[in-house]
Amino acid sequence: MSDPRRYEAEVGIIGGSGIYELDALTDVRRVRVSTPYGDPSGELVLGELSGTRVAFVPRHGARHHILPSRIPARANIHALKSLGVRQILGISAVGSLREDYAPGDLVVPDQIVDRTRADRGATFFDQDVVVHVAFAEPYCGRLRQLLIEAAGRATMATVHDSGTYCCMEGPQFSTRAESEMHRRLGFDLIGMTAVPEAKLAREAELCYAALCLVTDYDCWFDGHEDVTAQAVVDVMRRNSEAAKATLTTLLAKKSVDPECACQNVLASSINTPLEGLPD
Ligand code: ADE
Repeated sequence: MSDPRRYEAEVGIIGGSGIYELDALTDVRRVRVSTPYGDPSGELVLGELSGTRVAFVPRHGARHHILPSRIPARANIHALKSLGVRQILGISAVGSLREDYAPGDLVVPDQIVDRTRADRGATFFDQDVVVHVAFAEPYCGRLRQLLIEAAGRATMATVHDSGTYCCMEGPQFSTRAESEMHRRLGFDLIGMTAVPEAKLAREAELCYAALCLVTDYDCWFDGHEDVTAQAVVDVMRRNSEAAKATLTTLLAKKSVDPECACQNVLASSINTPLEGLPD
């Protein structure tokens, strides 16, 4: 096992269902990183992709044994940041709530609706200081554009450049009534993992964007099978190459932007008066 402090990574990649490793990585090292928030989902895999140093962690663990509600998101984000990561790409399987976002399509969502219920550890700031980060735009706009362009160039898949991701608690899939309600509310995608990952990346002042692979039509669409875990895994297995090709193409661009506003959000977010200053 290597000492994580010897390695730096520029970009963090968080893998979802069906993406437990990145076989295109070269110069690979596996590191265990401990954090004040406990252990990440597993060893972090460090390596190089398209000439960029990356750190990869599968959010459900390498054996897919971690429930969405129990993903150690704070530890994952903290561990990535401690390795020097400045921007994170999250890969996720999602269900589609609209006909034109079909299984096999890629979506780069632009909005999130948080319908989680468990305490998933959704802030780094739960003691001594009150922080309210701006979250109107939950994803980094610059990183989203890079993902959209890279997906368009790297794959034959249909790429959708926006969508509202509804994050449900799970682990059970939705009832038909819930699925229809989510559609009527105007949500486009349904998944279980965007929250709190995106919130924590913002608090950690990291750029964050998501590449979603549509695996199913949830359970609202007559004439299509209701979603099952097996169907999600099967579609991800068939389409994970599109996600990996997108990452390889994106990283070839060398895109760290030290001026990105995501990397300076705390300056305007702290409500607790600093000592010695009037409130
Ligand atoms: N992930 C993939 N498909 C899903 C669905 N239909 N509901 C929730 N999470 C999912």
